[in-house]
Amino acid sequence: MQIPFGDFKRQYFELQRELDDAIQHVMQSGSYILGPAVKGFETDFAAYCEVPHCIGVGNGTDAIQLGLVALGVGVGDEVITVANTGVPGTAAIVAIGARPVFVDVDPVTRNMDPQLLTQAITARTKAIMPVHLYGLMADMPAILAVANQHGIPVIEDVAQAHGARLLGARAGSLGAVAAFSFYPSKNLGAIGDGGAITTTDEALDRQLRKLRVYGWERKYFSTVESGMNSRLDELQAALLAVKLRHLDASTARRVHIASYYAEQCADIGLTLPTTPAGYDAVYHLFVVESAHRDAYMNRLKSAGVSTDIHYPLPTHQQPIYQRYAPHGGLPVTERQSQTVFSLPNFPELTDSEVEYVAQTVRSVAATIEAT
Ligand SMILES: Cc1ncc(COP(=O)(O)O)c(C=O)c1O
Repeated sequence: MQIPFGDFKRQYFELQRELDDAIQHVMQSGSYILGPAVKGFETDFAAYCEVPHCIGVGNGTDAIQLGLVALGVGVGDEVITVANTGVPGTAAIVAIGARPVFVDVDPVTRNMDPQLLTQAITARTKAIMPVHLYGLMADMPAILAVANQHGIPVIEDVAQAHGARLLGARAGSLGAVAAFSFYPSKNLGAIGDGGAITTTDEALDRQLRKLRVYGWERKYFSTVESGMNSRLDELQAALLAVKLRHLDASTARRVHIASYYAEQCADIGLTLPTTPAGYDAVYHLFVVESAHRDAYMNRLKSAGVSTDIHYPLPTHQQPIYQRYAPHGGLPVTERQSQTVFSLPNFPELTDSEVEYVAQTVRSVAATIEAT
């Protein structure tokens, strides 16, 4: 058997009729930019996230950048974030002339360690940006407690956690603003690029609607600086509206596969993902840890099972961002970047593929742990 790490086509074929109809509808409407499909999707996605406002934008990185700008972050300001993601958040911070200040992650949740926040705050800190990594929300109550104490806004990076909950609250409903990506592999993925920002704040909503179109208050009249052209387009919005209707079912499938892997791979020497009480994780990725990562990945590949590493080089160790590395480094982030690897977990995997992955991991583990 050959098991891919992901397969965008499978989801298209599953929803082909609905997706093709949505495309035709937009094509025939003649409305291609910021029309009824974007408006409709924004309303649906805001309702899904249980917030009053959603602003569709070009991609998740722009969503972060625009969110930071709307919060007033600019040149010379500091944004506290984590370094165990794939770089986009840091690229957005640096693009507006601000400075990333990295804190380490909790070894169990692999998310921002709130205990390290206070010591990272300075007079220049203008935002705190946790990332809900792999589908598990960061410890927002603890992060918000520190942030509120210092009057610093929180921007959630929800690119990997559409629909996740913490103590009943949706990801994207707790920060001042929240940035979503609809990159095709995400739990809610477009057929191309897409992104959105959610907020409960009406003034921020108004500001963001201007910022995504050159700072226009109305056509040809700009009233805010640092506007860009970053619009979710009508086709992507119409496709996302279809996929949103299936999101809870596809999340349930990801969670089911994750719990099957967890059950089958317990006690074989791998460190499995942990979901603490009170959290509903959406398993964007199923990430395990082993000191024998290379051996696992090579042997799984030989048996036809694709895996990946999220992420092989922490942001503060990337040559261009090394100048932002904190003194003493980020021990947990660095250690985990050497041991993490991800098993295939996407909703369209068949039961027999999922069983094959688990069985193969078990037999590879037996050979590795025996040596
Ligand atoms: C955690 C995280 N933040 C931000 C992004 C950026 O999203 P996009 O690729 O849509 O710009 C991604 C995905 O690529 C991501 O995984």
